[in-house]
Amino acid sequence: MKKLRIALIGCGGRSGSHQASFEKMDNVTVVAVADPIEERRNKAAQRFGVDAKRVYKNHSELYDNENADSVDAVVICVEPDAHTDIEERAIEKNIPFLVEKPMTLDLAQADRIEKAVKEKNLITSVGFQDRYLDLMEIIKEELPKHKAGGLVYGAWVGGIPGVWWWQKKSTCGGQLVEQNIHLADGLRFLYGEPISVYATCSRGIVKPGTDASPEYDTDDHSTAVFRFQNNVTATLVSGCYSKDVRPRCGLYITLSDIVLDYRLRNNLIITTKDGVKDIPRGVDQTYLLDKAFVDAILTGDRSLIRSDYSDALKSLKMTFAANKSMETGEVIYF
Ligand SMILES: NC(=O)c1ccc[n+]([C@@H]2O[C@H](COP(=O)([O-])OP(=O)(O)OC[C@H]3O[C@@H](n4cnc5c(N)ncnc54)[C@H](O)[C@@H]3O)[C@@H](O)[C@H]2O)c1
Repeated sequence: MKKLRIALIGCGGRSGSHQASFEKMDNVTVVAVADPIEERRNKAAQRFGVDAKRVYKNHSELYDNENADSVDAVVICVEPDAHTDIEERAIEKNIPFLVEKPMTLDLAQADRIEKAVKEKNLITSVGFQDRYLDLMEIIKEELPKHKAGGLVYGAWVGGIPGVWWWQKKSTCGGQLVEQNIHLADGLRFLYGEPISVYATCSRGIVKPGTDASPEYDTDDHSTAVFRFQNNVTATLVSGCYSKDVRPRCGLYITLSDIVLDYRLRNNLIITTKDGVKDIPRGVDQTYLLDKAFVDAILTGDRSLIRSDYSDALKSLKMTFAANKSMETGEVIYF
C-alpha cells in the first residue's frame, strides 16, 4: 500500500492531536518534523521514528532539504502570527498542506496564498474540525425540513488557554478569530455566507499580572451579531474570563417548531412537540478531518475536504470583520 509521507511544521499542542490521528492510520507515515523547540521536535520525531537527518529547527530548514519528491504533504500548526512564508514555500514546491485555523492574522497574506493555491490547483485543508462532526451534520440535515428563519445563540466562554501567544490580541487575533472561529465557521456551514456583522468587546475583568500574564491585552469578552439570508440572526458570544465554572458552550438554534441545542463537541438535544432526543457525539472529528485530507491526496477526490483554504478564508474574514466592527462601532457588510 502506498503510504502518504507527511512533514510536520510546528510540533506543539494541536500538532499532537494530528499526530494521534496519523498514528492510527496505516496508510500514513511522518517522515520529517520541524520546530524551534528541541524537545517538541524530538518528541514528535521519536513518536514516528523519523530519521535524525530529517528533524529540523524550523520550516525554512525543512523546505531547504525536502521537496515534493520526498514529502507528499505538510501539516502546519504554528502560532497564528508565525506563518511567515510557511504556506508560500509549500506552494512553490507543489506540496499539498493542511493548516490550522486561524491560517494567519494578515488578511493580505491570506489573499496571496489563496490566489497562489488556486493557480497551482493544490490540495489544501484547514483545521475546522467541527465540520466533520456527526452532530453538525444532523443539524445541517434537519434545518431544511423546517420553516426557515429564527434565532441562533452561540457561545464559547471559558478560561484563558495555556499557550503564551493567547494573552495578546496581536498574537492570537482575539478569541473570536482564534477560538470562536469554529462556531463562526459552523454558522457558515449551516447558513451560507453572512450579510453583515455588528460586534462589541470589553476588558477589565481579567487583571493582567494577577489573573493572566502581565502582557495580557486581549478582550475579556465580545458579542457579535451576524445576519444571514432567510431571516436568520446569530449572536456569537466569546469570553475567556471564567475561572471556577464551566459555562455552557455551543449553538442554541430556535426555529418555530424545533429547538436544536448543540453542546459543543459533546451532544445535541433536539426538542419538538413530539418530545426530546439527546444524541451524543459519535465520532472523533479531528481524526475525520485528517483522514479526509489524507484520502483526498491519495485518491484525488477533493470533495472529501469540507473546508479548503479558499473556503476557510471566508470564515477568517467573517471574524476579522467582527473585530473591525468592535474597533469602529460600525456595522460591517460582507
Ligand atoms: N483546530 C483546532 O481545534 C485547534 C485546536 C488548538 C489549536 N489550534 C490552532 O493550531 C495552531 C497552533 O496551536 P498550538 O496550540 O499547537 O500552539 P503551540 O504554541 O502549542 O505550538 C505551536 C508550535 O509551532 C512552533 N513553530 C513556530 N514557528 C515555527 C516555524 N517557523 N517552524 C516550525 N515550527 C514553528 C512553535 O515552536 C510551537 O512549538 C494555532 O493556530 C491554533 O489556533 C487549532
